[in-house]
Amino acid sequence: MRTNVSRTVLITGATGTVSTALLDELRGAGLRLRALVREESAARRLKGQVAEAVVGDLGEPASLPPAFDGVQDVWLLTPNGPRAPEHHMNALWAARRAGVERVVRLSVVGAAHDAPNRSGRLHALSDREIEASGLRWTILRPHWFMQNLLNEAGDVAATGTFSLNLAAARIGMIDVRDIAACAARVLRDDPDRHHGRIHTLTGPRSLSLEEVAGELGRAVGRPVTYRPVGDDVKRAALLGYGVPAWIVDMLEEYARAYADGWGDFTTGTVAELLGRPARDIADFARDHASAFAPADAG
Ligand SMILES: NC(=O)c1ccc[n+]([C@@H]2O[C@H](COP(=O)([O-])OP(=O)(O)OC[C@H]3O[C@@H](n4cnc5c(N)ncnc54)[C@H](OP(=O)(O)O)[C@@H]3O)[C@@H](O)[C@H]2O)c1
Repeated sequence: MRTNVSRTVLITGATGTVSTALLDELRGAGLRLRALVREESAARRLKGQVAEAVVGDLGEPASLPPAFDGVQDVWLLTPNGPRAPEHHMNALWAARRAGVERVVRLSVVGAAHDAPNRSGRLHALSDREIEASGLRWTILRPHWFMQNLLNEAGDVAATGTFSLNLAAARIGMIDVRDIAACAARVLRDDPDRHHGRIHTLTGPRSLSLEEVAGELGRAVGRPVTYRPVGDDVKRAALLGYGVPAWIVDMLEEYARAYADGWGDFTTGTVAELLGRPARDIADFARDHASAFAPADAG
């Protein structure tokens, strides 16, 4: 393994779920960290966590050179949305122009041109692009995030129930902290070591939502119940929260695929990369119990 302070790593998506966990993992790793953010206020908030934060927008190619200049490694995360491949293209072009050596890219489980969801098909376009880029590259394809359950924390805390349109799905869900640990592992290793590799990352077991409810209940010390609901109920709830229609459609496509068994598998890749088991849902539930506990608990 090499830790080399002369390497600068650009972290994209630096204010989001995965990259925040990655910054935690890379602290003290002997790398010079630079964050790409969209707002000066975010740059100020990241002070102390990164050597520097540079304002830029993946949708604005002209804004990117100052973030990419002088960088050896890029952690490339594109936010969900129809413009994801364009954001990826802009980032790769900026990386190429800046002489970046390696890009480690966050894709998604099952990314393929024939994936049953638009996110998987869009990610497949960017996976192909990076494979043909001429740069050194590694692709991480994580499964459904355990942290998605935090969207249900308010309901669980208030009612002891949560409602999803996942029917009787089993999902090999993964704790985002393990995705970050794998990304950090790759970024700390020699650039040649993981070049050309696609790592599909899952948790240690494929879980039903009843099993998830059981673990959440154990963590908060009262029963938690999963209530399966139809797509129309979930759609109305998400639109009511202001979630864009494109994202609602994407989530519905995933829900249908998962309900049909598409996500019912695990891999051993996290343990192979990290030399320890992937975090279990019991670990996630314990570490986030305060979010799911009733307000009057304790
Ligand atoms: N959720 C899952 O179960 C799951 C599973 C596998 C893969 N994924 C993939 O994970 C990715 C999302 O990761 P995440 O959950 O960590 O994201 P997130 O929490 O939604 O954060 C998105 C990040 O991207 C930044 N961003 C948004 N638009 C930008 C732009 N135009 N230019 C530069 N930065 C921009 C945001 O910055 P601001 O603070 O400025 O908004 C934020 O830092 C997606 O590619 C998704 O397909 C998700």
